[in-house]
Amino acid sequence: MSISPTSQFTSEINLVVNSRRHTLQVAHHWTLLHLLREVLDLTGAKVGCDRGECGACTILMDGLPVYACQLLAIQAKDREVLTIEGLATGSELHFIQKAFVEEDSGQCGYCTPGFIMSTHALLRSNPSPTEREVRYALLGNLCRCNAYGRIIQGVMTAARAVQEGSS
Ligand code: FES
Ligand code: FES
Repeated sequence: MSISPTSQFTSEINLVVNSRRHTLQVAHHWTLLHLLREVLDLTGAKVGCDRGECGACTILMDGLPVYACQLLAIQAKDREVLTIEGLATGSELHFIQKAFVEEDSGQCGYCTPGFIMSTHALLRSNPSPTEREVRYALLGNLCRCNAYGRIIQGVMTAARAVQEGSS
């Protein structure tokens, strides 16, 4: 897939998004969030504050959670990006998504993709987090509906699925 922006200040980059390799012509001023949402049509990462405060745009880059609004698209050159769209397998939700549904962890749901991606990174590095560790890992994600209690429950349920081998 190759898309040419109109700006003269562009570079060609290769990157992998949700296991799919892309070669793209990107404008130097584009954020990674813009590239994902407006070019690749992956709108799961949300635009919240657009200035690195809310975590609604959280994705994983080379396995680490990052704010897509705070990176330029060209910084994703030769990187591997995972967005919320890359978690489910066909119609089968990812175990973290299932846990969030089970625990009713979202109200409006705008923050949910970001929380799930941060949770994914947490459980990969620490499959048995304490509640305190969960709260610390999710410090960079805000929920304006104040659904924190249910979000924490969702993360703990997902962690139990990992521990029980049902993830
Ligand atoms: S939209 Fe990126 S941190 Fe808020
Ligand atoms: S559920 Fe609405 S912002 Fe979190």
